[in-house]
Amino acid sequence: MDRRSFLESSRTLAIGAFSAAGLTAILSGCSTIPQYTAAVSGLVAAVPKSVFDADDDSINIVIITIPGKSRPLALVSDGNGGVQCFVMRCTHKGCTLEAEPNGFSCPCHGSSFNVNGRVVTGPAVENLTPIAVDSRGPDYLIPLSVM
Ligand code: FES
Repeated sequence: MDRRSFLESSRTLAIGAFSAAGLTAILSGCSTIPQYTAAVSGLVAAVPKSVFDADDDSINIVIITIPGKSRPLALVSDGNGGVQCFVMRCTHKGCTLEAEPNGFSCPCHGSSFNVNGRVVTGPAVENLTPIAVDSRGPDYLIPLSVM
């Protein structure tokens, strides 16, 4: 098997594993960003904590799609049980951000943000505003009133 075939079959296997767990995946360059569609009740989205591998202590991002909302959220695990959540909206002029393994980039004018939502590259000057997530139960509960 040549390198190209190996990489393509690896991506297929990775997407299959995500799909089996209720996750889909977005390919970004050579990496895969998982995507999950949240259950919504009223103005709260629920995302099971199993979207993150409990044995993985690295920082991970899952894109959260909210039914009825055009813009997704990003849920970022700090690898120690903590999470941060951001609306995937660029603070420069409002374009939808794209997730990357180390943060977020804007396809409109090139701004980028790290996994903590801080501006890395302008023209954006404002950091992403984190959404307070309730992590007390089996699910992450995310208020949607901020969207
Ligand atoms: S809207 Fe994102 S950089 Fe301009």
